[in-house]
Amino acid sequence: MGLCILHVASECAPFAKVGGLGDVVHALPIATAALGHDVRVLLPRYDWIDTRDLRKHARPLGIPLGEGQGEVWCAVYEKHIRNVTYYFLEHDAFYARGYVYDPKSGFTSDNLLRFGTLCRAAFQIARSQHFMPDIFHAHDWPCALLPVMLNTTESEVFGGSASVLTIHNLAHQPRFPLWDLLNLDVPASEFRGDSLESEGAVHPLKGGLYHATKLTTVSPTYAREIRTPAGGVGLDPVLDFRGADFVGILNGIDAHEWNPETDPYLPTHFSARDLAGKAKCKRALLREVGLGEMGLSGPSGKAKNKTPLVAMVSRLNEQKGMDVMLAAMPELLKLDAQWVVLGAGDSELEQGLRNLAEQFPDQLRVHIGFDEGLAHRIEAGADVFLMPSRYEPCGLNQMYSQRYGTLPIVRATGGLVDTVTQCDLENSSDNKAGTGFLFNDLTPEALVNTVGWALEIWRKQPETWRRMQQAAMSRNFDWSVSAKEYVRVYEWALAAKRG
Ligand code: ADP
Ligand code: GLC
Repeated sequence: MGLCILHVASECAPFAKVGGLGDVVHALPIATAALGHDVRVLLPRYDWIDTRDLRKHARPLGIPLGEGQGEVWCAVYEKHIRNVTYYFLEHDAFYARGYVYDPKSGFTSDNLLRFGTLCRAAFQIARSQHFMPDIFHAHDWPCALLPVMLNTTESEVFGGSASVLTIHNLAHQPRFPLWDLLNLDVPASEFRGDSLESEGAVHPLKGGLYHATKLTTVSPTYAREIRTPAGGVGLDPVLDFRGADFVGILNGIDAHEWNPETDPYLPTHFSARDLAGKAKCKRALLREVGLGEMGLSGPSGKAKNKTPLVAMVSRLNEQKGMDVMLAAMPELLKLDAQWVVLGAGDSELEQGLRNLAEQFPDQLRVHIGFDEGLAHRIEAGADVFLMPSRYEPCGLNQMYSQRYGTLPIVRATGGLVDTVTQCDLENSSDNKAGTGFLFNDLTPEALVNTVGWALEIWRKQPETWRRMQQAAMSRNFDWSVSAKEYVRVYEWALAAKRG
């Protein structure tokens, strides 16, 4: 018999997406539902989520607050897509602010109250809808209070349910005042060093790591890295303590939405067998971003493509190595390539990129903002995709780019190591060809050298490039593989909980 799984998360595409968390909370439930399980997802009803095609529950949901404070009343909406049931929790004072995360951090924000209320609502929805989840699957720090609630105030009713907490990014560790915890009716006794307390403040992720029945993160290499002092961002002792209950499962991609043969965002389609459409996508992209077709000569339709196009689609911050990439840019721009960058994030990095684009208008185009369609067209139209991440729990873009025949250049860290195979010129026969380029040192020199190496192969060894493209495009990153591993973790968690 199938399991009943309730995901609780702050992001879930297409309703709410800030980064890869949204993609994963979208695709993993669909993939596990396809295996025959009853999968549901709870997320906030942010103000941009249109309620017109959602079904509103007849009764509002009461969410108990701390002692003597009564309840907060929320509306609940519901929708079924691809065998998954979505619940949207509406409470405008928390979720109608035009953003997912309050940009003010920690103590000055009410993020813990906002997402802690969502965690509490998970139990109330199960009660009101009369279902008993086998698994509460919580994602990242915003939902890390859920396992704490399950083991304390909710343990009587939900004692047979297990929790799984997935770490998508261990570096996000906001702290909050004790008052917030009490407002959420989490027992003050949990405010202690081995649970929710850290340096006198509430540390939700730490408490979740302590309480969850099983823990996962999004790639095997990141799982190893964060158990060491170098990668653990202060939580390596906790992860080491929970080591026997902790595994890394590689994210997949939604191969239905990221498919170059059918992608509705693309001007034309292509496949590993026929790459002609990819050249057309490149020309269309160059036109779209306003880059002159430098190096594209000859009568239209027979144009020769002589200049490689390097791309990035990324949040602009230190995690993504954007500071190093910016420092390397003057040298990178000497490499006879064109560049397109789509991203948003730290204002200094945004400004740095804008300044460079003004200086080098024929070579570099920068789009600041979030644009799903352009992200797809960049993956399809570029030759090379760059991800010089300082750390990367998994990363999705390097998988999207391989599927679109755009070879990734990545720093050898986290999930990038698990998903990109190094170019090996000695050994590049069809079935052994690498699928990208990896480098170790996060320095401008290493970056410039590796990009230079890749572009040299693009220019001088088109046959090798073609073989690498074929190898990259035929890799199977489908969620169906990882979804089975999650189901094994769910069964493992249940066995631990129910003996
Ligand atoms: P992270 O979650 O750390 O940002 P991932 O590689 O896991 O990194 O996921 C990022 C996701 O967000 C991808 O789906 C990527 O295409 C998308 N993305 C990032 N920045 C933008 C942007 N500016 N416009 C459109 N999509 C973006
Ligand atoms: C985080 C990580 C990213 C990962 C994504 C989805 O945002 O930074 O590496 O792919 O979560 O798990």
